[in-house]
Amino acid sequence: MKGEPYGEGRLVEISQGCAGAETIATSSDAVKISGLRFSYPGKAAAAVLDMPDWRIPRGGGVFVNGASGSGKSTLLNLLAGILTATAGTVEILGQDLATLSARRRDAFRAKHMGIVFQQFNLIQYLSVLDNIRLAAYFGVQNIGAVESRALALFAALELDRTLIRKPASDLSVGQQQRVAIVRALINAPEILIADEPTSALDSDTRDAFMALLMTISRAQGITLIVASHDIALSQCFQQVISLSAINRCGGAQRVY
Ligand SMILES: Nc1ncnc2c1ncn2[C@@H]1O[C@H](COP(=O)(O)OP(=O)(O)O)[C@@H](O)[C@H]1O
Ligand SMILES: [Mg+2]
Repeated sequence: MKGEPYGEGRLVEISQGCAGAETIATSSDAVKISGLRFSYPGKAAAAVLDMPDWRIPRGGGVFVNGASGSGKSTLLNLLAGILTATAGTVEILGQDLATLSARRRDAFRAKHMGIVFQQFNLIQYLSVLDNIRLAAYFGVQNIGAVESRALALFAALELDRTLIRKPASDLSVGQQQRVAIVRALINAPEILIADEPTSALDSDTRDAFMALLMTISRAQGITLIVASHDIALSQCFQQVISLSAINRCGGAQRVY
C-alpha cells in the first residue's frame, strides 16, 4: 500500500482513539445466525427468510448475491437490528440483538456497525460534515476529532476534502455514496454493511469503488458484508453466498 493516498499509516491513525473500537465480546464470529425465520408483520404466511445456520467469521469480506425480492435487504436489516427475527437468533460479535432494549440496540449498532443504505440516507440540507458528525454523535465518538478523522477517510476514499463544508445536496451521486461510506466508518466499526453499494455507478467506477472499499476494510480489519443482485461484484470477495443457497424460503423473487 506504500505510496497510495490511503497508505497504512493513515488508516492506523483512523482506527486509533475511537470510543467505538472497543471489543465487547470475544466471539470469533462477526455474525452468527441460528434457526432464523423472518416474516413481515401481518404477512406470516409469506416468510421471507428461513436460514438454519450461517456464520461470518471476523475479518474478510462476504458478498450476498440474489435476485431482486430474494430478501437481501431484509437480511441486512436483521443483521443491523433494524428488524427483529420472527424466530431464531441473530448474534453480532457474540451479542444476541433481540436481548437488547431498542435503545441499547441502537447504541450497539452505532458503535459497532457501519451501514450504507442503498439510498445513502444523507440529510440533504445538512453539510457533509454535519451528516458525519451526527453519526459520530450516536456512536459516542470524540466529536472534536471527527473532522480530522473524516478527512483521513476522505483521502482514503479519494474524495475532495473541500466537499466537507458543502450541503449534501450539492454532491453528485458518486460523491454522496463515498460520503455515506465515510459516515459509516467514522466510529471505526468492526462490521461494515452495504446494500447495493454500486447501483448508482457505471462498471468502471464500480470496480474502482469496490477495490477501495476492500482495501479500507482489510487495512482496518473490518468485516465487510455487501448485498447486491449484481453478480459482477463476486470477483472482489473471498466469500460469495447465493442467498437462495442458504435461504430455504427462496424469497418471493418479486422485481421492483
Ligand atoms: N416493509 C415490507 N413489508 C412487507 N414486505 C416487504 C417489506 N420489505 C420487503 N418486503 C418483501 O420481502 C421480500 C424480500 O424483499 P427485500 O428484502 O427487499 O429483497 P431484495 O433486497 O433481495 O430485493 C419481497 O417479497 C418484498 O416484497
Ligand atoms: Mg434490496
